[in-house]
Amino acid sequence: MRLVVLPGDGVGPEVTTAAVRVLRAAFASRGLPLDIATRAVGWAAVQTEGAPLTDDTIDACRAADAVLLGAVGHPDAEHAPAHLRPEAGLLALRQALGCWGNLRPARVPDGLIGASALRADRARGTDLVVVRELGGGLYYGEPRGDDRGRAWNTLSYTEDEVRRIAHLAFRVASERRRRVTSVDKANVLETSKLWRRVAEEVALQYPEVIFESMLVDRAAMELALRPSRFDVVLTSNLFGDILSDQAAGVVGSLGALGSASVGGDTDLYEPVHGSAPDIAGTGRANPMGAIASVTLMLRTTGGLPELADDIDASVEACLGDGLRTDDLATPADASPPVGTHAFTSAVVD
Ligand code: NAI
Ligand code: MG
Repeated sequence: MRLVVLPGDGVGPEVTTAAVRVLRAAFASRGLPLDIATRAVGWAAVQTEGAPLTDDTIDACRAADAVLLGAVGHPDAEHAPAHLRPEAGLLALRQALGCWGNLRPARVPDGLIGASALRADRARGTDLVVVRELGGGLYYGEPRGDDRGRAWNTLSYTEDEVRRIAHLAFRVASERRRRVTSVDKANVLETSKLWRRVAEEVALQYPEVIFESMLVDRAAMELALRPSRFDVVLTSNLFGDILSDQAAGVVGSLGALGSASVGGDTDLYEPVHGSAPDIAGTGRANPMGAIASVTLMLRTTGGLPELADDIDASVEACLGDGLRTDDLATPADASPPVGTHAFTSAVVD
């Protein structure tokens, strides 16, 4: 496997270093070859290369089997001109690679039930994937603008855009508990009526998968009260952005979730969190999101699900032993939290 690692800013280098340690250990345990190239992105790249994402880096990513990104964003960049903002590098990368589907699994392992924002009986059994449309919708719609006290954005979806993300959701569900919940606002929005019609059409091609449509406001409530009822949540760019952060709250920390962005030239894997400047450099970042991104990579791009299973089992064993970073610690824990390095070493061992 040929991998490009883009550590980025803040805790990005800390969590990608951890994930790469785990990945190398997993490959070594099976005697498999792994080729890793590291390049700068974000504010780190502005310092060394004068831009948050260079053409060379895009070419390197396109030529790789997969890309692992840490996070971008730095307090010093706040007043930088738009083309030097670290976030511009990330959006440009997603666009250059053409990724249109975003998978965000959220699982509450038994060892972490106490860390959830929810009561234990509600959190228990949570194991869902948000399949978020990433290439269209409100974030990209034209026209957009801001003029004389009024601002506007356009929400637009084509049948083809909905169809391809719906097929992805059903393929993911076929390998899981075979249930898709399509989330929309079809009682109000034309785009959602189209979304629901296309999702229902695609559902007919997957008779083994149970399908339902749900309005987004009800979905938010269900996610807080009965998250374990969901398997695959299929939804648009905006709703998926919001619901997947809510799912992170159900698990207990943004630091624990990974993601895969697929559909383009090269698949892009990244933890869902940002550069966490408040804890960067303290050695306290949770590497679970980056490690989860690596297991998604092994399953999705790598065709190496048995390696992913090994890693998942190791992480779960560590959690079962009571090991956890600050962000997941609770007053009920028997032992104090551990740092990034210690947690990672335990997973590797
Ligand atoms: P953030 O995700 O960086 O941090 C939010 C909170 O979660 C902070 O309290 C942080 O300490 C905590 N947290 C995040 N990751 C953690 C981890 N691995 N372990 C333990 N705790 C963790 O979001 P925030 O503060 O809104 O943004 C900070 C910077 O990150 C900004 O520059 C923002 O633009 C950027 N950002 C980048 C993203 C990316 O690269 N994909 C995504 C979101 C934000
Ligand atoms: Mg978000």
